[in-house]
Order: sequence, then structure tokens, then C-alpha cells
Amino acid sequence: MAISPKIKEKMEKGSFIRKMFEEGDKLKAKHGQENVFDFSLGNPNLDPPEKVNQTLIEILNQPVPALHGYMSNAGYPETRRAVADFLSREHDLSFSEQDVIMTCGAAGALNAVLKALIEPGEEVIVLAPYFVEYLFYTDNVQGVPVVVPTGPDFSLDLKAIEQALTPKTKAVLINSPNNPTGKVYDQKSLRQLGDLLDRIVRKQGEVIYLLGDEPYRKIVLFLY
Ligand SMILES: Cc1ncc(COP(=O)(O)O)c(C=O)c1O
Repeated sequence: MAISPKIKEKMEKGSFIRKMFEEGDKLKAKHGQENVFDFSLGNPNLDPPEKVNQTLIEILNQPVPALHGYMSNAGYPETRRAVADFLSREHDLSFSEQDVIMTCGAAGALNAVLKALIEPGEEVIVLAPYFVEYLFYTDNVQGVPVVVPTGPDFSLDLKAIEQALTPKTKAVLINSPNNPTGKVYDQKSLRQLGDLLDRIVRKQGEVIYLLGDEPYRKIVLFLY
């Protein structure tokens, strides 16, 4: 099949997590669902509360015209407003629907954000250990991932980040709670990172975006 050599190479080097998931499926078929414990992907081991299913059924039963039709690219305004209100309450800051864009998952969001920001050859700092797909997302927009180590307890290594910054740095991508380490960056180190970027931006004159990928933040709120 005439698929592009680049994609062929990517498939060969593809995510090990995905390969483990496929392997898990095979093992389940062989040994039974209940005998295989699959920790490969981020699937929770709990189903949503019944109320969630009921609400979805109620929504589907409402005779809304063109329920499955196209919408404006950023998402339904009322949904964006509801998310903005929620974020305003949660962060004690003021967000409006203009600050919110609905996407299909975190991968969709990160790809859209990187596409909006990165010119070919610009650098995106990624902190190791990192979610493996960050390299693919950066490559999708012809950006250059610059992998920077974290401390022995996986905390932010501000010196290493500072050393990795170049005039080509366009974004620093952080993930907290972190996949795979579980590390949650504390307020102090996040402020220090913000201050560092502010200082460099003032010196260089070029904006560096701090991108936060937080798909697991609710787990932390739930625990504390
Ligand atoms: C840290 C991190 N970012 C992004 C994603 C992608 O999330 P989604 O499935 O919502 O696209 C994942 C999924 O495992 C993840 O762990």
C-alpha cells in the first residue's frame, strides 16, 4: 500500500501504550474480560454515575432540531458560557465565552493550539518524562520538540528549562497531574516558571506561551 514513508515510520515506532492496549484486547479474548487488568490507556475502571446516562438519554429525547448538525467552529455559545462560568468559579478569575473553545478531547485541543502558534522550525519545550504523543503533536505542525529533564522527584527543573530556552522557543508545554509520573506541580514552582518566562520574554521581546495540559486535574480535586 502506498502510504507515506513518514507515516509508515511513525506506525513502526508507534506508541507502546497503544500496542499494550491492543495486546490487552487479545488477552481478554483469550482469558476473559474479568481476568485481565488493563492499565495501558487512561480508561477509568468506573463507569459514569447513572445520572450521567439518564441525562444523556433525556437530551436525546428532546426534539431539538438539527441536534447532530454543524455548529460554529468554537462550539455552542451556551456551552462555552457554561464552561467559562465554571472556570471563573473554580479559579476565582473572570472568564467569558470568548476565552473558551470546545474541542474533541485534549489531543484535539493541543493540536489546534500548536497549529495556531507554531511556525515550522519553532521550538516547543517538553518536560521528560512526557506523554509520548506530545512529540507527534509538535511534529504535526513541523515544530521542534526540545526535551528537558525534570528533577529527581519529577518537579520542574527551572535551571534546565532556562538553559533550553532559545530565540526559537515558542511554547513550554507542561502537564500536571503528569502522565506518566503523577507529579502535581505546586503553586510556587508554577509561579517561578511564569516569572522565568516573563523575564525572558521581556528581554527577548518575543512571546513564549505556557501551555497547560490538565486532563487529570479533576482526579486531584476529588482526592483533596
Ligand atoms: C497527558 C495527556 N494529554 C493528552 C491526552 C489526550 O487526551 P484525549 O484522549 O482527551 O485526546 C492524554 C490521554 O491519555 C494524556 O494523558
